Amino acid sequence: MNSSSSKNSQSGTLPRHIAIIMDGNGRWAKKRLLPRVAGHQAGVEAVRGTVEACGKRNIEVLTLFAFSSENWRRPASEVGLLMELFVQTLKREVKRLHSNNVRLRVIGERSAFDPKLQAGIASAEEMTKDNTGLTLVIAANYGGRWDIAQAAGRLAARVQAGQLASSDITPELIETELSLYGLPEPDLFIRTGGEQRISNFLLWQLAYTELFFTDVLWPDFKQSQLDEAIASFGRRQRRFGRTGDQVEQGA
Ligand code: IPE
Ligand code: IPE
Ligand code: MG
Repeated sequence: MNSSSSKNSQSGTLPRHIAIIMDGNGRWAKKRLLPRVAGHQAGVEAVRGTVEACGKRNIEVLTLFAFSSENWRRPASEVGLLMELFVQTLKREVKRLHSNNVRLRVIGERSAFDPKLQAGIASAEEMTKDNTGLTLVIAANYGGRWDIAQAAGRLAARVQAGQLASSDITPELIETELSLYGLPEPDLFIRTGGEQRISNFLLWQLAYTELFFTDVLWPDFKQSQLDEAIASFGRRQRRFGRTGDQVEQGA
């Protein structure tokens, strides 16, 4: 077997799950002397295009980081506008998502949201829950540390109730309490906007994810950039701790 035969591209492997940190909205607006919110609005268009493109490419799961648990630190006016945009977008897009067979799932600490937004999220999830196309996961008020902490808290409660021994706690068991449980792990991570950091996104789940960073600002992210990231993924050899030779021999 030649050395390239085990690469993702040779075997025609597509990422099953793509996770994206959509960064650079503010700088996109600043370059145009527009208010930051205009960047977030333009970012919604990029979301629409990316969801459509992933659906067409038969990607199973797309997880988008929309609002981090640390984004509350922004000026109250920006947080308020982001929340409003979230509500409006949900309202406007849910029917389209549903008719495109998209299943919507929202992860993050949603109790911090306005009750109306919480209700909107619940009804959108309910409406789309049996759809069989792309699973679109929106991470809102999400933090990777929060995710692990809430899983630990739930397991601790079971230990306290005598339902579980602490010695039974394994990585596999912790996983059952994490937000993305039941979905394949992200294969490909993309961050736009030029920063090369994780910013408390999916800390646990990114353990073996292939990372792709681009300077393109999120509102400028188009299908061609998505394809570039997918092609880069295709050229990687995923070893999961094994040697390259082992992977090539299919061990
Ligand atoms: C990402 O764009 C969107 C959110 C965090 C909600 P930013 O708003 O972080 O854009 P920059 O990084 O300031 O350019
Ligand atoms: C990460 O972007 C969060 C989202 C895209 C929702 P940030 O812009 O908040 O990240 P930092 O602050 O530059 O690390
Ligand atoms: Mg940013």
